[in-house]
Amino acid sequence: MAQGLRFVLFGSPGAGKGTQANLLRDRLNVTHISSGDLFRHHLEQGTPLGLRAKEYMNKGELVPDEVTIGIILDKVMCLPDDEGFILDGFPRNTNQAQELENTLAAGSRNLDKVVHIDVSEPELLRRLGGRFVCRACQAPHAIGEGEDGAAKKCGQCGGELYQRDDDRPEAVKKRIEVYKRETMPVLGFYRERGVLVNIPGDDTVDEVNKQVLAALGA
Ligand code: AP5
Ligand code: MG
Repeated sequence: MAQGLRFVLFGSPGAGKGTQANLLRDRLNVTHISSGDLFRHHLEQGTPLGLRAKEYMNKGELVPDEVTIGIILDKVMCLPDDEGFILDGFPRNTNQAQELENTLAAGSRNLDKVVHIDVSEPELLRRLGGRFVCRACQAPHAIGEGEDGAAKKCGQCGGELYQRDDDRPEAVKKRIEVYKRETMPVLGFYRERGVLVNIPGDDTVDEVNKQVLAALGA
């Protein structure tokens, strides 16, 4: 069986990582690993991990590395060697990037690409203000102004939609600040390794999808 693509979807809060990952995982037959979705799943179940993560998520801060790295790298290590994957929301600082590199190298694996979806700040704020997510499958949905997102159902699984606590304006502001300070340096880490591709992300979902596929050579 051919080796599946292994890549990171990288970008600011609201850049469209989850939206693109949902389209790409079926098309490319790869596993989607989203750190944010995983934390929200634990939170829904009321696990100790979910409750710990919530303290940080609701403030727009990063969950500490000693919590995050282990659970994400465990997921990566559990995949068969030839299975491709999309990482969405991880790595988010250079320590996480280094730990991911070490783990993959220990299994003679590497990342094929890191695709940075670059979206302007006004567009990020517009998107996050209108986003509802599915309580069951976490799929993001764009809800138009004046529409009642909570009255709609998930387009993928029919689940209930809700607004994330960290999509409140003050948490969004903090998330974008944290992204600039702690996460953007990861771009330099991957530029040095020759795997970084930047794509403009303000365009429609379909247009961005075409660009991501082109960046992946898929
Ligand atoms: P996480 O869940 O990863 O959130 P995020 O990175 O802030 O990103 P979002 O999920 O908000 O945005 P997205 O890029 O997925 O955009 P989406 O596709 O939904 O993390 C949440 C928290 O968990 C963090 O703040 C932190 O506390 C913690 N955490 C997670 N990972 C961590 C880590 N590695 N280390 C430490 N802590 C961690 O799209 C947004 C909206 O726009 C949707 O409504 C969508 O429909 C719409 N949309 C998408 N694309 C387009 C388009 N092209 N045109 C128009 N609308 C679009
Ligand atoms: Mg997301």
